[in-house]
Amino acid sequence: MRKRSTFGSKFGTIAVVGGSVIGLGNIWRFPYVAGDNGGAAFILIYIVVSFLISVPLMITEFSIGRSAQRNSMRAFRKLTSHKRWGLLGFIGIASALLILSFYSVIAGWAMEYLFESFKGSYLSLGSEQITQNFNSFIASGWRSVIWTLLFVTCTAVIVSFGIEKGIERYNKLLMPVMFMIIVGMVVNSFFMPGFREAAAFLMTPDFSKITGKVWLEALGQSFFSMSIGLGAMVTYGSYISKRENLFKVAGTVAISDLTVAVLSGLAIFPAVFSYGISPTSGPELVFLTLPNIFAQMPGGYVVSILFFFLLCGAAITSTISLVEVLTAFVSEEFRLKRRSAIGVVVATVAMLSTICALSQMPDSQLKIGGMNIFDIFDHATSNYMLPIGGMLTAIFAGWIVNRTLLKNEMTTNGSFGVRIFSFVFKLVKYIIPIVIAILFLSKIGLLKLS
Ligand code: TRP
Repeated sequence: MRKRSTFGSKFGTIAVVGGSVIGLGNIWRFPYVAGDNGGAAFILIYIVVSFLISVPLMITEFSIGRSAQRNSMRAFRKLTSHKRWGLLGFIGIASALLILSFYSVIAGWAMEYLFESFKGSYLSLGSEQITQNFNSFIASGWRSVIWTLLFVTCTAVIVSFGIEKGIERYNKLLMPVMFMIIVGMVVNSFFMPGFREAAAFLMTPDFSKITGKVWLEALGQSFFSMSIGLGAMVTYGSYISKRENLFKVAGTVAISDLTVAVLSGLAIFPAVFSYGISPTSGPELVFLTLPNIFAQMPGGYVVSILFFFLLCGAAITSTISLVEVLTAFVSEEFRLKRRSAIGVVVATVAMLSTICALSQMPDSQLKIGGMNIFDIFDHATSNYMLPIGGMLTAIFAGWIVNRTLLKNEMTTNGSFGVRIFSFVFKLVKYIIPIVIAILFLSKIGLLKLS
């Protein structure tokens, strides 16, 4: 077999994994979920969950992938004689497909808004017209479909250049640029009248806000944001060099993920408070309220372009990881060349994301039990498939895989993290499955948390 590609450098590894992790989850989802769940108290819980559950799971996924050197489905099967574990890999493949399908739609909106920002079209509009424009954009159906398909095509082109020349190169280019844009936006926000109120909202926890539901939301958000639970990090792990310190990669990436989420909050909330908009406005926060804000603020033209560029860039480095999971699976399982595999993946995603985009039209029939397909994909993956995937991955690593094999891989044959291995291993073997099971049972109503 041909030698598997590996990422070329330490910075390359961090940029690629960071690119997957940092995405719409941080900039579009985190601020409104945090806003909805009480701000600072939520962030505190989010930090605990990220470091005690998501980081150990990320290291576990890396180890499984780097040890097996296979796509995410084959990897689970390779490390055990119980072939049924391949099913876990398969659930992951299905999750990747579903996430990619609705995620590309939002990324498509971001592209349309970038285009509109260049034209400066909403800068002279009042807030009612901005809302109307958004609604008619969604209602037109085909406009949203075209942007979605354009976005999927861009992702596919980058992935088709391969691991080092495509994925690694574009992540290394985009990640530092995006980091500078977001820091610039925070500096800009600092001078807005609402900055203090926003900082207080994000930094002073009100502990009475912490309930079972908040823990659950934090877990779902953390998995989504850290790309955990579907084997994305198994696939990327298989490209990480055998010399790399997996603890360090996961730790660095987790800190960056958290930093970007909080920075996005700091960039977005001052404007929200300065213009008297509610922090709990939900998924539209970015697309409805920010154009209003850009229209009113000095320098809004440039800031809006930078912001929507950031949103597109963050989204594409994440969709790259999802397309790569599917491409590795299709090319290895059906013995296709990479390019042909990408063709199969793109055709499937194009079909599903078109359905997602069309299902959002107000009079759409694409509904099951009152929920449109877009919402079903979103809800099913974050609330069910990712937590279950994460829990089964922990059980697999803790109880099925040979402990010595896992230890050697995780600690890079005894070079890094030997002292914390047994702590991480206990978390993975006992704590993580139990905690997720409890949260999950409470979610489906079989157990009552406060
Ligand atoms: N983490 C990305 C974000 O925050 C989304 C994402 C990319 C993802 N790859 C994933 C989520 C794999 C779950 C699993 O936007």
